[in-house]
Amino acid sequence: MKKNRRDFLKTACRNVVFASFGISIIEACSAEDEDSIINNEKGSSSNEPLVLNLNEGDLTALKTVGGWLNYTSKNILLLRISANEVRVFDNKCPHQGNRDRWSYDGSSFECGYHNNSYSNSCNGALTCYTAKLKGDTLTITF
Ligand code: FES
Repeated sequence: MKKNRRDFLKTACRNVVFASFGISIIEACSAEDEDSIINNEKGSSSNEPLVLNLNEGDLTALKTVGGWLNYTSKNILLLRISANEVRVFDNKCPHQGNRDRWSYDGSSFECGYHNNSYSNSCNGALTCYTAKLKGDTLTITF
């Protein structure tokens, strides 16, 4: 019992010391954490392009016209449109924001949560990113 009380006092005192340094330290930590989350969503800084090699892993699906991929770790939907073009969309469904139940029928993406369909056009409801294809290297700018 005494040990638990001692541990509690140590922890409580540590928090009091942190609190006495002021809120600016806490805000600085929060801002850093927020940046980390944003960076992790796209795999790089939000201002830096994401460069993908279409010869690697599941990305090989994009080597064929009509091939597509929900690249969930980067939160993007990718679609090979032609020999020279891959379109890249945010995989966040415009309806309720789900990201993980996409299918593609050759002209539109369907979200499996409520079966809404979205055009494969960059003028549709899905957020489209700039993507440049050079050989098998795809560079995406967010
Ligand atoms: S969340 Fe995608 S259709 Fe509802």
